[in-house]
Amino acid sequence: MRAVVFYSYSGHTKELVSKIKEKYGYDILEIKPVEAYSDNYDEVVERAVDDTKNNYQPEIMDLDISKYDELILGTPVWWYTVASPVNTFLNKYNLKDKTIIPLVTNGGWLGHTIDDIAEKSGSRIKDAISLKFDGNKLCEKEKFEKWLKGLGD
Ligand SMILES: Cc1cc2nc3c(=O)[nH]c(=O)nc-3n(C[C@H](O)[C@H](O)[C@H](O)COP(=O)(O)O)c2cc1C
Repeated sequence: MRAVVFYSYSGHTKELVSKIKEKYGYDILEIKPVEAYSDNYDEVVERAVDDTKNNYQPEIMDLDISKYDELILGTPVWWYTVASPVNTFLNKYNLKDKTIIPLVTNGGWLGHTIDDIAEKSGSRIKDAISLKFDGNKLCEKEKFEKWLKGLGD
């Protein structure tokens, strides 16, 4: 059984997740930090410089992923890797027997995000996609539509 697990700070990843939900109706589980991030974007960007370097794992709300064997994992890129709340998720949950389909949004610098997902989860990785946003606009709409269609195969 498949679910979407995601974190989104500024809404891009969430927007794509709603399209997946619309088309396939998968269960959606949102990764929520216990302590919400500041609304000030620049502050969050600045803070994440050290957080991502230091493998920071903010506390997140509990999620029940036991019944799923495949997870579409949505994350923004934060300093060339997964967003810190997703880092917590990858470290906290036993994902070794699951398959992960990474859905990674970014501003053009993907870095080692997908490799990090593979390494930290120990999961089988398939059909990874990275999508660039320019401001709030998805640059690779066709690439996303094709991937979205392929999820049903
Ligand atoms: C803390 C922080 C760090 C970021 N670091 C990167 C980066 O290293 N490379 C990149 O391409 N975009 C980076 N971005 C841009 C986001 O990855 C991009 O806007 C993403 O689509 C945001 O997804 P969201 O709206 O779901 O949070 C960063 C954004 C934030 C807030």
